[in-house]
Amino acid sequence: MADSSIPPVSKALNRPDRELDLTLRPGRFADFTGQGKVRERLELMVEAARGRKDVLDHVLLCGPPGLGKTTLAYILGDAMEVNVKATSGPVIDKPGDLAGLLTNLERGDILFIDEIHRMQKTVEEYLYSAMEDFVLDIMIDQGPNARSVRLNLQKFTLVGATTRSGLLTAPLRTRFGMTARLDYYAAADLTSILQRSARILNVDLEDDGAAEIARRARGTPRIANNLLRWVRDYAQVRAGNRITRDVADAALAMLNVDANGLDEMDKRILETLLHKFAGGPVGLNNIAVSVGEEAGTIEEVYEPYLIQEGYIQRTPQGRVATERCYRTLGLVPPARQGSLI
Ligand SMILES: Nc1ncnc2c1ncn2[C@@H]1O[C@H](COP(=O)(O)OP(=O)(O)OP(=O)(O)O)[C@@H](O)[C@H]1O
Ligand SMILES: [Mg+2]
Repeated sequence: MADSSIPPVSKALNRPDRELDLTLRPGRFADFTGQGKVRERLELMVEAARGRKDVLDHVLLCGPPGLGKTTLAYILGDAMEVNVKATSGPVIDKPGDLAGLLTNLERGDILFIDEIHRMQKTVEEYLYSAMEDFVLDIMIDQGPNARSVRLNLQKFTLVGATTRSGLLTAPLRTRFGMTARLDYYAAADLTSILQRSARILNVDLEDDGAAEIARRARGTPRIANNLLRWVRDYAQVRAGNRITRDVADAALAMLNVDANGLDEMDKRILETLLHKFAGGPVGLNNIAVSVGEEAGTIEEVYEPYLIQEGYIQRTPQGRVATERCYRTLGLVPPARQGSLI
C-alpha cells in the first residue's frame, strides 16, 4: 500500500524534492505502454462514464505479478478524477472493516482491493450487495437483540486485482462489469517502458541496451525496471552512465540474471519436467507436488509465461517439454520431440 503515497510521474517531476518522489509508475493512460486491448477498453469505459457523468463500473484486473494491475487502478482514478482508496483482501478481516471503508467513500471514488482472492468469505458476502445495490446490511448486537441495519452507500467503483482469478467465487466475479486480463509484455513494449524509465532515471540507454534488458525481463515491466536500476548503477560506476548492449550484458551477467529471463521457480518447473518426468506428459498436480508450489499458482502465475515462450506445451495428456526446454537446460531433445513441436 506504500504505492498509494507515490504521486504520478508527471506530478513528481515538477516538485522540488524530485529525487524523493521519483517513480517509474506511469500515472496516466498515455504513459502506460502495451496491453493495447485492455487499455482501449478501459479508456472507452472511462470516456462513456464521464460522458454520462456516471460512476465507473466495477473492474477486475487479473494477471501475473508485476504486469501493471495496481498501476491501472491508479490510472483509472486519475482518468475519472476521483479518489483511490487502496486496501488488500487479507487486511479486511471483519465485515466491520469493510463497512468502515465503504461508508467513507465519496460518490465515484475507487476502492482498490488488491489480492481480492484472499478476502475472507464472510467479508466477501457483504460486498455482493454493496457492489450491486450500494447498500450494506450489517448485523448489530448478538443473541435476542441482534438486528440488521441497512446502510446506504455512495455509488462507488470497486477495482479488484488478483493474480489468481481461478480462486474467485462466481458471485463475486460476475459482479464486475469488466474483467481485464493482463498478459506478458512483448519485447518491443518492454523496450519502450525501459526507455521511458531511463529518461526518468536520467541515464543514457541505447536501443540495443534496452533490448538486451527487455529480453531478460520475463515479459514483466517490474522486472525490467528492477534490472534497469541495477544496470544504471553499473553504467554509472563502470561505463560513463551509458548503457550499450555490452554494458547491459556485463551488468546482468554480474547479477547472474538468466539469459532467457527465467526465474528460480521457472527453472525448477522445467528441471522437474525434464529430470523427474522425462519430459512429460505429466499432470499439473505432479509438477506442483515436486516443486512444492500450489497447482493453481503454477497454472496462473508461472506456466503462462513458460507456455507463451514455448518451453512447455499443454496437451490433453499433461504438460510436455518442448525442444526449447531441453536446449535451455543444456540437453539434447529426444527424437520423438520432433513430432510435438
Ligand atoms: N504498462 C506499463 N508501462 C510502464 N510501466 C509499467 C507498466 N506496467 C507496469 N509498469 C511498471 O511495473 C511496476 C509494477 O506494476 P504494478 O505494481 O502495477 O504490478 P501489479 O500487476 O500490481 O503486480 P502485483 O501483482 O505484484 O501487485 C510499476 O511500478 C511500473 O513501474
Ligand atoms: Mg499490485
